[in-house]
Amino acid sequence: MPRTPIVAGNWKMFTTARTGRELAAAIVKGCASLSGVHVGVFPPFPYLNVVADVLKGSSVALGGQNCYPANEGAYTGEVSPTMLKDVGCRYVIIGHSERRHGLGETDEFVNRKLHAALDAGLDVILCVGETIEQRKAGKTEVVLEGQLAGGLAAFRADLAPRLTIAYEPCWAIGTGVNATPEQAQAAHAFIRRGYADLVSPQAAAGLTIQYGGSVKPDNAAALMAQPDVDGALVGGASLKADSFLAIVRAAVA
Ligand code: 13P
Repeated sequence: MPRTPIVAGNWKMFTTARTGRELAAAIVKGCASLSGVHVGVFPPFPYLNVVADVLKGSSVALGGQNCYPANEGAYTGEVSPTMLKDVGCRYVIIGHSERRHGLGETDEFVNRKLHAALDAGLDVILCVGETIEQRKAGKTEVVLEGQLAGGLAAFRADLAPRLTIAYEPCWAIGTGVNATPEQAQAAHAFIRRGYADLVSPQAAAGLTIQYGGSVKPDNAAALMAQPDVDGALVGGASLKADSFLAIVRAAVA
């Protein structure tokens, strides 16, 4: 089954209303004549509306970087999946390592977000990935297995078309040291096998698995040329239209 790659720009806690608008406009322009790739941008919450206006009528989708697993309630400072949907988001990222490790999010909490986001009609990008200590201890596969089983608990196979998994090894995020194409391929193939066991072989064949961690224009093509690498989740290089668009083009080359 051919899989359409997804290239997503996670802006993290960067940009202003003005620079976000300009960046989104340049990305829309650069993607206008491209096909065969899904492109999404993930601005900070305060700029979702601003960026949504720029994306209107374009092929570039909007996404949230996180959500809380309830539609409304007394959760000061949190943002719900239905709010993301309301401002025009198609996607939400959950389980990013900066939230797992920086803010103590557990697989159980990530799983609650998964269900809340799917129930609200959002497509989910679920991030998994090991730390450098876990990799050095030979625990990469055990960690990925646990994050998949925990994050995907009670996931229904009929929702498979709305799920993307992002493999983001923590040691590659923001470090300039990307996983080699071989390391990425090995992890992605492992994730696909694990997902086949958890969900179904058919769903696994159609699962889009993005790689994230120091993806740049000069390494994107080699990473995405791997058979199980179906796109990229880009941090730093997504903050400049030129470098982000070069990565988008590498996905369809
Ligand atoms: P960098 O591309 O800056 O390494 O960030 C990757 C990432 O965390 C995307 O979610």
